[in-house]
Amino acid sequence: MGGIFLHVFFFLLALLSYTFFRRDKREPRKKAKLPPGSMGWLFIGETLQLYSQDPNVFFADKQKRYGEIFKTHILGCPCVMLASPEAARFILVTQAHLFKPTYPKSKECLIGPSALFFHQGDYHLRLRKLVQASLSLDAIRNLVADIEAAAVSALDSWDGGRVINTFQEMKKFSFEVGILAIFGHLNDHYRQELKKNYLILDKGYNSFPTNIPGTPYKKALQARKRLNKILGDIIRERKEKRLHEKDLLGFLLNSKDEKGEVLSDDKIADNIVGVLFAAQDTTASVITWIVKYLHDNPKLLEAVKTEQKSIRKLNEEGNQPLSWTQTKNMPVTYKVILESLRMASIISFTFREAVADVEYRGYLIPKGWKVMPLFRNIHHNPEFFTDPHKFDPSRFETAPKPNTFMPFGSGVHACPGNELAKLEMLVMTHHLVSKFRWEVIGSQSGIQYGPFPIPLQGLPARFWKESTR
Ligand code: HEM
Repeated sequence: MGGIFLHVFFFLLALLSYTFFRRDKREPRKKAKLPPGSMGWLFIGETLQLYSQDPNVFFADKQKRYGEIFKTHILGCPCVMLASPEAARFILVTQAHLFKPTYPKSKECLIGPSALFFHQGDYHLRLRKLVQASLSLDAIRNLVADIEAAAVSALDSWDGGRVINTFQEMKKFSFEVGILAIFGHLNDHYRQELKKNYLILDKGYNSFPTNIPGTPYKKALQARKRLNKILGDIIRERKEKRLHEKDLLGFLLNSKDEKGEVLSDDKIADNIVGVLFAAQDTTASVITWIVKYLHDNPKLLEAVKTEQKSIRKLNEEGNQPLSWTQTKNMPVTYKVILESLRMASIISFTFREAVADVEYRGYLIPKGWKVMPLFRNIHHNPEFFTDPHKFDPSRFETAPKPNTFMPFGSGVHACPGNELAKLEMLVMTHHLVSKFRWEVIGSQSGIQYGPFPIPLQGLPARFWKESTR
């Protein structure tokens, strides 16, 4: 009897401790409470509040009211928003494995489900290494001459004072650079076909997802199919030629996993469309802001002009093109670029989803909730950037505090194209300020979301080559 009692006792003890430890493993955060904040109205949460005002005002107001971590409910999802450098590091770097990337299915279908930024773990790592290698400093230094040619050709096409939409024109430029980084020199037929279909995809990307024929989303889906066919042709040709190019397509084609398997053509196509997508609007938005900030700050423009004109003079005397070394030695312009990235903070935040219950500073982030590190709030916090609404490149004479400046994100998904983006901005600014003057048309201020913040109406402006007027 005593033996049976002991057995039962030990069984219960084992069961209890098993349950306790399992609970501890699976739900370690039961005691933690949800962050402060409001979940808004039933079903719609705070989506209306977010979209009826400037989203950045929404985030800033919330932070003022609740502090650096708060909950809300937008677009049908419960969310935790985090506005401190430590929290961003926690989500994106130290505990990145607990937060997976998350995008609406409708967007995944347009880009292609195998694009690296939808993934985490081994597949993501494999693709990321390839993309990083194709965008490394060693790789992009060979692109300077081609980027320069693209910038000169764009600027020359604006000469004469007709009104252009700066953002739309900068998109054409960043698309050309994206093509260069992915394919090197691509024949004109393929380039035109890619451009035509990518434009349709781009138009449908932010439209309502529906299969109804004739809608922008449906047209975008059809264009995506055609892009696959065009990319398939390019891939086949490259395979036949057996070229081992050092562009992104070359890296993707030559990659083998540990079993010796190559990437399928579909996976390659998804990643090409993904990189084009990641590269175009982002870079174009920031360059558009640079044009605006320089226009609005004449003293600064003079300083940048002086720097760039001395480089141009040297190159004209020696009949030399702009060199990689010169792009690495433009301190005044470089600080303008950093300050533009901070001020505009075009990626105001990013999205992740908690894959388990996670505790952060005593608060519970429940499994399945969306998690949003708010880069813009950090970049505009006076604790880290004095007088944050002032455009002041000199603040970058000293390095920002760790994790306070993340225009290109941080951690495992940080932007692999950041050096290329900066190179594009430097080259474009070099030719813009050393040869052109420009005038902004209409309203001087105002922001538009598309979905990245850009100056109102894409910054309509007129450009003139300085010698011609
Ligand atoms: C000024 C221009 C750019 C800005 C501000 C920017 C910003 C960012 C940010 C913030 C992320 C991280 C997003 C996240 O964590 O969820 C990111 C990721 C990414 N960016 Fe950029 N980007 C720029 C230009 C480019 C360019 C030129 C390329 C390629 C040629 C590129 C390719 C990518 C890719 C492939 C990812 C996904 C990386 C991954 O998931 O591992 N970006 N970018």
